Amino acid sequence: MSDVTKEKAGGVKFLEVSHVTRRFGGLTAVNDVSFSVNRGDIIGLIGPNGAGKTTLFNLLVGLTKPNQGQVVLDGVSIGGSKPSRIATAGMTKTFQNVALFAEMTVLDNVLVGGLLRHSVEDARALAEKNLARVGLAAIAGKKAGDLSFPERARVEMARALCTGPKLLLLDEVMAALNETEMDALLELIRSLRDNEGLTFIVVEHHMRAIMNLCNRIIVLCFGQKIAEGTPADIASDPAVIDAYLGSSIDTEVSA
Ligand SMILES: Nc1ncnc2c1ncn2[C@@H]1O[C@H](COP(=O)(O)OP(=O)(O)OP(=O)(O)O)[C@@H](O)[C@H]1O
Ligand SMILES: [Mg+2]
Repeated sequence: MSDVTKEKAGGVKFLEVSHVTRRFGGLTAVNDVSFSVNRGDIIGLIGPNGAGKTTLFNLLVGLTKPNQGQVVLDGVSIGGSKPSRIATAGMTKTFQNVALFAEMTVLDNVLVGGLLRHSVEDARALAEKNLARVGLAAIAGKKAGDLSFPERARVEMARALCTGPKLLLLDEVMAALNETEMDALLELIRSLRDNEGLTFIVVEHHMRAIMNLCNRIIVLCFGQKIAEGTPADIASDPAVIDAYLGSSIDTEVSA
């Protein structure tokens, strides 16, 4: 049986997150959260500010250690492992508050991601390829410190792609994009899924993007998972409307 067939048959999941908890002093930022992801999913992770979305991403990629719980990626237990080991296993994330080396060029910032698996020469070629993919080839030589926020978010995405991920966690990469830029990024994410088999978990406050892009949505509130389902289920879930959406929204709008 192929991996995908096994997943569809209800066997091993690509990512299995079980009862993960992270406390900061008296605050439980992520509280007993469990969910699973199939290969090729594009999962939306939504919720109010401070709900624990970035903390959950940090737990998954090893930047923060869970107090409790298990994370298994592609059959390998990675809960509490170092970020480099998790990136090598195929999971990486973009940073919400983009941390680029301001004095270095865009190309050099992106190249860093490729050094996990490649020589400098190969990493450079890969960086050029991924900058073109995110539509930034023309500014490869620009100083990263001179970029706009939307450009920086796309540089972050190119850098993450250079690590060769199987599962990519995107933390608000669409913030501050205009409609055209956002549609281009949605198209890129879909094509990476369709043509290269990548799997995504996407944190985003922009509901049109989330509702059109994702096949399943998980909702966090005060660290707890309060709902999980299709975009249509989530848009009409009274608990989600109450905690986050404010009113029911139209999921039929096309991207
Ligand atoms: N390193 C930390 N130390 C202490 N508290 C933290 C730390 N990181 C996050 N928190 C707290 O944990 C909670 C969850 O924060 P988190 O950044 O994960 O939320 P979020 O859902 O990503 O919010 P946003 O939509 O604003 O990005 C918040 O109350 C935050 O203040
Ligand atoms: Mg966040």
